Amino acid sequence: MQNEPKYRGFDTYTKNDHHTYIKENFKVLGNLIEEGIQANCLSKSAKVLDVGCATGALIGYLASRFERFEFEGLDISDELIGVAREKIPGVSFKVGGVMDLPGEQEGRFDVVLCIGVLGIFDEAEAKDVLYRLISCVRPGGRIYVFHQFNEVDIDVMVKHRRVGPEAKWDGWGAGWNIYSYRTVGEWLSGRVSAHRFVDFSMPFPLERQENPVRTWTIDMADGSRRLTNGLKLLVDLRFLEITV
Ligand SMILES: C[S@@+](CC[C@H](N)C(=O)[O-])C[C@H]1O[C@@H](n2cnc3c(N)ncnc32)[C@H](O)[C@@H]1O
Repeated sequence: MQNEPKYRGFDTYTKNDHHTYIKENFKVLGNLIEEGIQANCLSKSAKVLDVGCATGALIGYLASRFERFEFEGLDISDELIGVAREKIPGVSFKVGGVMDLPGEQEGRFDVVLCIGVLGIFDEAEAKDVLYRLISCVRPGGRIYVFHQFNEVDIDVMVKHRRVGPEAKWDGWGAGWNIYSYRTVGEWLSGRVSAHRFVDFSMPFPLERQENPVRTWTIDMADGSRRLTNGLKLLVDLRFLEITV
């Protein structure tokens, strides 16, 4: 449908090599997983599904840190999955949408990752996405979702479009919806054992990039460093850790 906002950032992943330049959130996620292993909450030989895996860079990074983990990747873009298969031949990468889950994946994984994907979906779909991720995880397993979550009791639905001559969008883009802790807590209530939010901040400044939809850092008057983008948003990225 022409006016339905949809994800339009595929070229970010075809143009940038995140296999060489490791994203900071990948490192923080690795630390959270490490903590889970140390606390005996996660197995050293966990079976992991990365939903919205793009070119598989996160899987490549985690595979170098957790050698006994077994990975699978899923992404809606056949172009990105093609790159992933070339980069990491030993891993099973499938083309498909999160809305196709769980299907055959029901209860198969110890860990499901969903990094930078949840904000693409509007309210009803986002709740459904979380439920689909939960269905893929065995009892006691973990889900890590990374996106914008609001500690203030406000949910925000964002649609945007690029209007410059180089942007060939045929309609509105999605990807920056913000869900509050309260709403997520209500969605998860009674369905999972526990959940928590973990703050994320960039440890170094990021320059404004050519693509104004990508984030960069700004220094605030109180000395803190925040992420922003050309949508004029302050972007508070966090991990949502769910124990099923
Ligand atoms: C912002 S990127 C994040 C990529 C990667 N997880 C990372 O953190 O680098 C969003 C990814 O979600 C994928 N995606 C968009 N809609 C999807 C859907 N319905 N099901 C599965 N993947 C989807 C896109 O192709 C893209 O690779």
